[in-house]
Amino acid sequence: MKVTTLFSCSLTTVFLSSIKADQCSVYNWSSKLQHFVLEGQPLAINCLPDKMLNLELEEHNLTWYRAGDHTPVLEDPHSRIQQRATFIWFLPAILEDSGSYECAIRNSTHCSKMYFKLSVFQNTNGSCFNAKFALLQDVITASNSKIVCPNLDYFNDKPPILTILWYKDCKLIKDRRFRPLDKFLMIANTTVEDQGNYTCQMPYYYMGKQYNVSRDISLEVRESPPRKPPEIFFPRNHSIEVELGSNIIIDCNTSGAEVDHVFWTVNNSYIDHYYKHSKNVFEIYEKEIVLEGKPFLRVRLNISKVSDEEYENVFVCHALNSFGQVAAHVTLRSKVPDFRGPLIGMFLVGFLLTTAAILFYSFFKIDIILWYRSSRCPLTSKEVSDGKIYDAFVLYPTADTVARMYSIDNFVLKLLPEVLERQCGYKLFIVGRDDLPGQAVVSVTEDTIKQSRRLMIILEPELSSCSRLEETSEQQIAVYNALVHCGIKVILIEMEKIKNYTSMPESIQYIKQKHGAIRWKQDSAEKSQLASTRFWKNVRYQMPLRRTVSLSEIHLLPQFHSDPVMTITR
Ligand SMILES: *[C@@H]1O[C@H](CO)[C@@H](O)[C@H](O)[C@H]1NC(C)=O
Ligand SMILES: *[C@@H]1O[C@H](CO)[C@@H](O)[C@H](O)[C@H]1NC(C)=O
Ligand SMILES: *[C@@H]1O[C@H](CO)[C@@H](O)[C@H](O)[C@H]1NC(C)=O
Ligand SMILES: *[C@@H]1O[C@H](CO)[C@@H](O)[C@H](O)[C@H]1NC(C)=O
Ligand SMILES: *[C@@H]1O[C@H](CO)[C@@H](O)[C@H](O)[C@H]1NC(C)=O
Ligand SMILES: *[C@@H]1O[C@H](CO)[C@@H](O)[C@H](O)[C@H]1NC(C)=O
Ligand SMILES: *[C@@H]1O[C@H](CO)[C@@H](O)[C@H](O)[C@H]1NC(C)=O
Ligand SMILES: *[C@@H]1O[C@H](CO)[C@@H](O)[C@H](O)[C@H]1NC(C)=O
Ligand SMILES: *[C@@H]1O[C@H](CO)[C@@H](O)[C@H](O)[C@H]1NC(C)=O
Ligand SMILES: *[C@@H]1O[C@H](CO)[C@@H](O)[C@H](O)[C@H]1NC(C)=O
Ligand SMILES: *[C@@H]1O[C@H](CO)[C@@H](O)[C@H](O)[C@H]1NC(C)=O
Repeated sequence: MKVTTLFSCSLTTVFLSSIKADQCSVYNWSSKLQHFVLEGQPLAINCLPDKMLNLELEEHNLTWYRAGDHTPVLEDPHSRIQQRATFIWFLPAILEDSGSYECAIRNSTHCSKMYFKLSVFQNTNGSCFNAKFALLQDVITASNSKIVCPNLDYFNDKPPILTILWYKDCKLIKDRRFRPLDKFLMIANTTVEDQGNYTCQMPYYYMGKQYNVSRDISLEVRESPPRKPPEIFFPRNHSIEVELGSNIIIDCNTSGAEVDHVFWTVNNSYIDHYYKHSKNVFEIYEKEIVLEGKPFLRVRLNISKVSDEEYENVFVCHALNSFGQVAAHVTLRSKVPDFRGPLIGMFLVGFLLTTAAILFYSFFKIDIILWYRSSRCPLTSKEVSDGKIYDAFVLYPTADTVARMYSIDNFVLKLLPEVLERQCGYKLFIVGRDDLPGQAVVSVTEDTIKQSRRLMIILEPELSSCSRLEETSEQQIAVYNALVHCGIKVILIEMEKIKNYTSMPESIQYIKQKHGAIRWKQDSAEKSQLASTRFWKNVRYQMPLRRTVSLSEIHLLPQFHSDPVMTITR
């Protein structure tokens, strides 16, 4: 049990001030010791509160005064204020007695003066308790605890037994868990409900008169700490990165151990011992505090300057109580400049740039190549020397319905020539336009394909049986030749989305898989004829290098989809 009493502060400390006045040494106890008493009750103050000061009193004259008053306090036993031995007595104290008192101790050569302060208080509103003058005591919830009725010693010169009455919140305690014993109150099975305002009272008899002596106590009840080994919250067997030469403070945060039972070691030595010469590392002990209802203690390790030695050592914090002992260690490792962040960043930026470049290229590939082609010498010797007549041989199905026929014929016979021949300068061989009537179809086809740089096949989905492309011998021969001789690139153009290629001949499926197909998208009549639309760009990309170049094409790239009508030079 911890008793905080204002009466008996540590008396081993030396006096605050010791100055000579009238050849007297002055000791001022006013702030160190507080004397207070309830109005109407007896009180005594000892001139010699510190036992160490005990003088050979026989050789001294000791006299009490009210401070500033030259009339000494009488030693008359009938006087209300009287001196008895080294004490001044108030029997009883009244409000007007509040103030400063002086006690002078003299022999023929020496003189000392002690000053004390007295406060006489009243209980307000008829309460038996005055919190301002109550003494704080605390106990923990435990099977048994006790509180003390303090500062009764000087009433005790005439034993035997103190008969003390105990009150809680001004009501006489009758619970049998509470048992007065001497100056204590024993509390069995203490609970938090026992917290509160207590008053102890005992009679004091002097010269045939009875006085009441009472003390107020504020009792705090704390949960008892668990009956288990202490805990170390930090460190946690880990390492800390610190720079060479830096100052670092490492906490050892614990609960459940008392101050003397938490400490650090290094290389199995106490810190003080290990660092007794350098003092580079020392412990800082802090006061135990209550954190979230639990006692908490921190012992910090202050490493003034981290050196190589500290990197090698293991610092261990230990904590122990009667239920066990725990330890946790921490090591220091040197801080290496961290390249990882920047490195990852660089990789990331590089990756993003590459991705962006790839995306850009794949998106604008066709434009880039067309632009590149157009920016080169328009007439390459290769084109002249390959000995071929046509840039593309165009194969297309003969449609079964009038509507469809119109759409295909329109595309093959009108748009293709308009864009590829007129605007871009290609020379096409279109079956049905360029073959002379009466010629043997197969031989014409074969010969002409051999003279063409590309084979362009127009595909239509769900063709009716009578117009199935794959059944025409021209087409088979053409595809056969294109595949066998490999020299001719095939351009597939879908008039509509073809969902099912399995109905197509294998050769077509193969080409579609290898080179893909370009899907025709019907735009407005005007736009359809623009060589700068995506569709025509795709077609032109697959076509061989042009023979002529249009200067305006050079400016196409940035404007991409929304080009103005081009001027084509032929
Ligand atoms: C003693 O100290 C108190 C406050 O500390 C002060 O008020 C008082 O005047 C002092 N008395 C003497 C005699 O110095
Ligand atoms: C104490 O005081 C008395 C009278 O007041 C005197 O006779 C005596 O000598 C004094 N004693 C000392 C030790 O000063
Ligand atoms: C007076 O008291 C002081 C101690 O307070 C002591 O040292 C001194 O010897 C005493 N003088 C006489 C004459 O007794
Ligand atoms: C008595 O109590 C009342 C309220 O409880 C308060 O207002 C009043 O100030 C108290 N009187 C004194 C003398 O403290
Ligand atoms: C304290 O508690 C125990 C068990 O709860 C009980 O047996 C005992 O009688 C209690 N003691 C008092 C003084 O009430
Ligand atoms: C104790 O007294 C103080 C001050 O008079 C009061 O505020 C507090 O509520 C009292 N405690 C209990 C438990 O009655
Ligand atoms: C002392 O206290 C008791 C009970 O609390 C009371 O009956 C008695 O009158 C008091 N005596 C004095 C002198 O105040
Ligand atoms: C140790 O406890 C104190 C007080 O709660 C806290 O401020 C500090 O951050 C703790 N230290 C560590 C390393 O967790
Ligand atoms: C650690 O202690 C061992 C003996 O227990 C000793 O041999 C060794 O030199 C110590 N290490 C350091 C760095 O002082
Ligand atoms: C730790 O030690 C350094 C150097 O001795 C000192 O400057 C610093 O104030 C100390 N830190 C603490 C919290 O005591
Ligand atoms: C941490 O290390 C100490 C020895 O330094 C060991 O006793 C403890 O069990 C370890 N704790 C954990 C959680 O590993």
